[in-house]
Amino acid sequence: MDYFLYRGNELYAEDVAVAQIAEQYGTPCYVYSQQTLERHWHAVDAAFAKHPHRICYAVKANGNLALLRILAELGAGFDIVSGGELARALAAGADPQKIVFSGVGKTTTEIRQALSAGIGVFNVESLPEIHRINDIAASMNKIAAVAVRINPDINAHTHPYISTGLAHNKFGIDKNDVLAVYKTIQQLPALKAVGMACHIGSQILELSPFAEALSCVLQLVTALKEQNIILQHVDIGGGLGVCYDAETPPSLDDYAATLLNTLQKQAPYPLDLWLEPGRVIVANAAILVSKIEYIKETASKTFAILDAGMTDLVRPALYDAYHKIIAVKKLTQKEIMVDLVGPVCESSDFLGKSRLLAINPGDLIAIRSVGAYGFSMGSRYNARPRCAEVLVYKDKTQLIRRRETIADLLSHEQQQPFVKMQGLGNDFVLLDLDENSEVWSSEKIKQLAHRQTGIGFDQLLMIKKKEDNQFHYKIYNADGGEVEQCGNGARAVALYLTLKNKIDNSKALQLLTCNRLMTVKRVGPQRFKVDMGPPDFSPAAIPLQLPLQDQYEIVLDNKTYRFAALSMGNPHAVLRVEAIDNAPVQTVGKALCLHPSFPKQSNVGFMQIIGKHRLALRVYERGVGETLACGSGACAAAIVAIRDGYCQSPVTVHLMGGELIIHWQGKNEPVWMEGDAQCVYEGAL
Ligand code: LLP
Repeated sequence: MDYFLYRGNELYAEDVAVAQIAEQYGTPCYVYSQQTLERHWHAVDAAFAKHPHRICYAVKANGNLALLRILAELGAGFDIVSGGELARALAAGADPQKIVFSGVGKTTTEIRQALSAGIGVFNVESLPEIHRINDIAASMNKIAAVAVRINPDINAHTHPYISTGLAHNKFGIDKNDVLAVYKTIQQLPALKAVGMACHIGSQILELSPFAEALSCVLQLVTALKEQNIILQHVDIGGGLGVCYDAETPPSLDDYAATLLNTLQKQAPYPLDLWLEPGRVIVANAAILVSKIEYIKETASKTFAILDAGMTDLVRPALYDAYHKIIAVKKLTQKEIMVDLVGPVCESSDFLGKSRLLAINPGDLIAIRSVGAYGFSMGSRYNARPRCAEVLVYKDKTQLIRRRETIADLLSHEQQQPFVKMQGLGNDFVLLDLDENSEVWSSEKIKQLAHRQTGIGFDQLLMIKKKEDNQFHYKIYNADGGEVEQCGNGARAVALYLTLKNKIDNSKALQLLTCNRLMTVKRVGPQRFKVDMGPPDFSPAAIPLQLPLQDQYEIVLDNKTYRFAALSMGNPHAVLRVEAIDNAPVQTVGKALCLHPSFPKQSNVGFMQIIGKHRLALRVYERGVGETLACGSGACAAAIVAIRDGYCQSPVTVHLMGGELIIHWQGKNEPVWMEGDAQCVYEGAL
């Protein structure tokens, strides 16, 4: 039973019309029904309720994080087969103890990852793997819990590509060797045998192969008991089939009854039963919605050519699998016999053959029962971006995987360009997100900011176009932390955009920072004026935990220091000194920066008035120390000098890294900062 039903002539996913989902998210698109998923989970769980059991959902069937999260919240364990699936399960909030790691080819890295995460058990499949896990666990001072996956040599009567329990398959350890393998495990110091596992194949439609497989496992468990090797659980794997067409898979109750009866009759002592179902939980919880691009008549056949293909759903191409295909809107016109094919350049690229459908070009169709091994087996063949995935719950839809873009396709093969800029002694690396550069994590920023081992920079600037002459602008310090605004950086951005012809300099450039919009105007070939916003003297804005005053006093080491304080988007304290060269930047600067009155710390400027329109400045920068240049610090100093009557606008501020001109008409007028910028290097990573 699922929640993809017609209401009148319209196909619905729960309470949402599928056509509306296609309209909103585009096609092709996987549409999942949360209620169907939950219902199937509960059905499996309830069928085994009377026996201690653990259900480890097979992530390979569908690893979408949103679906895994739903299952994790319902209490599911997870069966994984790679480091990637481990990461998915953990990201979805899985309990590591409930993770089973299956698969014949676990790498050293994956084993280490799994041991660090503290997973429940490794289902081991060969002696070399057993030794490898032991060695790694020993080196990490851990004990790894293992279950041997046996190969019971049973025919599950399923497609040869998905049968796994026959002696000639690569899976499991030959049942005749199993006892010796457990003895080896017993002798390895970093391993503990806790269970025995098997998995005989997938889409199995009979009960007898399961009963036989479990019986084989239990005979081996009994033989082990005679050797004093006692286990806690048996794991029967996954594999129960579903109905795609006219199959009649066993009901979950019959499946459970068969397994529990076998267990009751043949278990030598009480054993928990573990399962690894994938398909039976997700298969019917999704449809793939696709649009008919063309209807093509040939001498022998009519083809409906879809915008979905074998890259979105490979099961028909790979296993000749059958999926029901239905129209999203039922039409009353005559049905035609069509092969539904994709756009991929392979004759195996079909989704359904010889189907009778009432369809026209432009119509939507839904391919049913694609939740398992649908999206997860997709590819990008023919340079096709992977499609979107949408989750429906009642009348709500949620995009749970965005459609890939062409940029996504190219990103792993292209170098990421960056530009190195300078503005007044500060150096910046600029990433233009419209030029194939990706957002850097704070880890990466820290690593690449390093002057010996990275590219070396004071700040990282990231920009992305919003509209003409308007860009998003983000600023990060070398420690990876985000900064509210940087005027020197804004000039560097303006120069970059000018050099790349990305803006019209007859108009102002607008930069959207995380908290305001900065305007930048070009005033010379490499010279720009940046609107830094109005100053704010209120203690709350700075923030400063002292009542508002023009001059604050703080005693440090028995000496009283007077300073003004204001916010220029970031906190500043400004002290006037007589001689800039011996200003106590390192001592008083640092002490004031870290003073408890500034709960977010403060930048501290020491200024010497030189004339009506000139001052010299040194700055102790929050989180950095003494800096060659600080644009907002220059603004803060000039504002205090103007407010206190020492200077008049414009004020040239002389910093160690160079000069800036600050314009301010007083009060709530914005402060304009004028200075040069330079582009010093262009490279790629
Ligand atoms: N446990 C192990 C160790 C497995 O290898 C598998 C599936 C399962 C559990 C889950 O089996 P399920 O309950 O989903 O049948 N791509 C194929 C199916 C491959 C199954 C691989 N192993 C298909 O589209 O039919």
